Amino acid sequence: MNINDAIKDRISVRAYLDKAVSKDTLTQILDTARWAPSGTNTQPWKIVVVQGETKQAISDAFLDAHNKGIKPNPDYLYYPEEWVNPYKARRFQCGMDLYKALDIGREDKEKRVKASLDNYRFFGAPVSLFFFIDKIMGKGSWFDMGMFYQSVMLAAREHELGSCPQASTSDYPDIVRDILNVPNNFDLMCGLSLGYPDDSKPVNQYRTRRDDVESFTTWAD
Ligand SMILES: Cc1cc2nc3c(=O)[nH]c(=O)nc-3n(C[C@H](O)[C@H](O)[C@H](O)COP(=O)(O)O)c2cc1C
Repeated sequence: MNINDAIKDRISVRAYLDKAVSKDTLTQILDTARWAPSGTNTQPWKIVVVQGETKQAISDAFLDAHNKGIKPNPDYLYYPEEWVNPYKARRFQCGMDLYKALDIGREDKEKRVKASLDNYRFFGAPVSLFFFIDKIMGKGSWFDMGMFYQSVMLAAREHELGSCPQASTSDYPDIVRDILNVPNNFDLMCGLSLGYPDDSKPVNQYRTRRDDVESFTTWAD
């Protein structure tokens, strides 16, 4: 697959076919992604591939925590505590486009919550990868993690697999560490749902927007 196509055609996939992904394919994806760069080649990534009963147990525990009103307690702050533009507007647009694809009205809070809880079901994906990083590592290594994360998403495209990066699956890191027996000195960065996309679902048929190059680039000749 051409690199431009792999990058431009990747989307966040939120509906999957009921089709398993072989261990061989998953290994090939990780085998490609491990060539991602990292500062002084520290390769800070630690991955747990979650499927079957374990995935179900995590999903059940997330939903249970949500239903009991337990507040998410992520290992790090992904977003600003106070939103300002232009991020606020882009975030708003992102939500609007998603709800439109899901045919959920602006005021339909109940349906929105229901849709957002699909995060905790990994959108029906057969596989979820959990990305951990040793707490001892600095901010720079999180940068490395991001590159590894994108490499996994792109390598998956080569196998006609779709993925959805999910910060929401790191809402309750203690649940995940507990079920996966991951020591407390590892931060849970993110989850990544993975599987064969169900292209018949409208939620997989819309494209998010991007600002053009000139909007974020200054040329200093
Ligand atoms: C680190 C990260 C975390 C994300 N977390 C979620 C999430 O929890 N739930 C979700 O539905 N989408 C999540 N997304 C997907 C973004 O909403 C999506 O990447 C963005 O809207 C751009 O759309 P695209 O991926 O289809 O190009 C996440 C993306 C990234 C990079």
